[in-house]
Amino acid sequence: MATIRVRNTGERITDEAQVRAFLESNNVYYEHWPLDALPASLRGKFVLSDDEKDQILEALRPQIEALAKARGYVKWDVIALSEQTPNLEEMLKKFEQVHTHTEDEVRAIVAGSGIFVIKGKEGYFDVELQAGDVISVPERNPHFFTLTDERKVVAVRLFIDPSGWVAHPYEDPEFQRA
Ligand SMILES: [Fe+2]
Repeated sequence: MATIRVRNTGERITDEAQVRAFLESNNVYYEHWPLDALPASLRGKFVLSDDEKDQILEALRPQIEALAKARGYVKWDVIALSEQTPNLEEMLKKFEQVHTHTEDEVRAIVAGSGIFVIKGKEGYFDVELQAGDVISVPERNPHFFTLTDERKVVAVRLFIDPSGWVAHPYEDPEFQRA
């Protein structure tokens, strides 16, 4: 279940109904998927072959297709990041820059955890995501994604137009760094 940390006040929101209400009030789409259909052999695995990524997509097909149909996504894939990923730390430094996209950014966390840092109506907030959490940052909304201290995640990404999914840097004097 996702939890929130508001950067300028340090407030934490952990109650499910309050998390949902907070995200909704900031126009951030959120849902939670059951992951029972995932093959046991792939649980807790963070280095995945293409075949294993396909198995994950197949296991989650009903949820993926329902979300795609409801929100217009046409392509999806699986990303896996862990300390085994070459140049992970450099990659994260690059990730941790506020930016925008011309389409929304969707992630369904399959294993591990991750953090979206998002500019809300009253400043930046962190959404810490666990397995089963699905989030969409609205188009043109400043944000970035990073990992938690456990440094590993498997996530499904969904796209409306993969070729248009480019990060536009967003210089923001209001960004609350911590
Ligand atoms: Fe992004």
